[in-house]
Amino acid sequence: MTAPDENVISLSEPVLGREEKQALCAVIDSGWITMGEKVQAFEHAFATLHGVKNAVAVNSCTAGLHLSLAALGIGAGDEVLVPSLTFVATVNAVLYVGATPVFVDIARDDLPHMSIDDAAAKCTPRTKAAIIMHYGGYLMDLPAWQSFSTERDLVLIEDAAHAPGMDAVGRSSHAAAFSFFSNKNICTAEGGMVIASHPDVLERMRHLRAHGMTTSTLDRHRGHANSYDVLMLGYNYRMDELRAALGIVQLARLKEWNARRRELSQIYRQRLAERLPGVSVPFGSSWETAAHLLPVLLPQGADRSNVIACLKQRGIQSSIHYPPVHRFSYYRERTSCHLPHTESFCSRELTLPLHPSLRESDVDRVVAGLEESISVEAHEAAHA
Ligand SMILES: Cc1ncc(COP(=O)(O)O)c(C=O)c1O
Repeated sequence: MTAPDENVISLSEPVLGREEKQALCAVIDSGWITMGEKVQAFEHAFATLHGVKNAVAVNSCTAGLHLSLAALGIGAGDEVLVPSLTFVATVNAVLYVGATPVFVDIARDDLPHMSIDDAAAKCTPRTKAAIIMHYGGYLMDLPAWQSFSTERDLVLIEDAAHAPGMDAVGRSSHAAAFSFFSNKNICTAEGGMVIASHPDVLERMRHLRAHGMTTSTLDRHRGHANSYDVLMLGYNYRMDELRAALGIVQLARLKEWNARRRELSQIYRQRLAERLPGVSVPFGSSWETAAHLLPVLLPQGADRSNVIACLKQRGIQSSIHYPPVHRFSYYRERTSCHLPHTESFCSRELTLPLHPSLRESDVDRVVAGLEESISVEAHEAAHA
């Protein structure tokens, strides 16, 4: 294995140190590594941070989305409004419960959120839910989506994989699912959390995440129960103590890290406006955000693959968020739709490095690297 190259600016980077190591060692020394008190403590701390009563820890955000749909009664015959500008898991979860995803376009290039007008146009008598996704950590217009779903009696679920630590999340919807995958704002390697407005829904999710069973292994180990019943068809979506211990340590720094991400995003916005006016950053600079990603739109006609390759040569990682879900082979075979705004946005989007360990000088290097890469690319295109 080679050590990470210190000259490479990575797209994302988990912050993991002594405290995380100590927390993991303490769990191992405790002799109990599967779901138990640490998971409960993590749920409690997460709920407190979000100003809600309770939360359910799961082993991924994908599991959290699946449980949200299942616990809220979405199933076969139902249609669920979804963005195509998202990670595929948002849409897969709809298929897991046997419902039909209906792809909704984004509003505009500078507002790449699911369009409420297109969503309204795509409602049918079978529409039962909408999953909204806080792209890059930039919060959707939650009051507008709450009215939209209330007027139509729809279940509203937030894919909040990019937006942990944001107070407004989970207040206007039926459920919100978060991700702690290693590139997210806090990480437990793999992991997720769900919050829900109704305690019965949370309770159903608690059962569903552990095979529908009425007692846990820890209950039985401690002699609090000696058997169990199975109440429903459940899954194994449990979080373990090691991940929960990591999560507790990480959570304590979430607000600080989100603030740093926002600060770095503002620096990017300023530098890009000064040096690369042809590159735009969606959303306004005052938009409420957990600043998970720094997405930019390349100038029309720029060859993105070349720009990515030029950046790579300069030791700068970049990525694309996202290839549109409705264009993946699996989904193309099942649905045919044209989402002009999503397709245009996805063809020009480039994600630049953003994480709390990034320095201002790194941002300068990325912006200078992007400037060079775009001019090299334009020069090559002109002489092709
Ligand atoms: C928008 C979005 N939704 C869902 C997920 C799935 O999260 P997880 O890997 O925790 O299942 C991700 C992860 O990348 C994501 O970005």
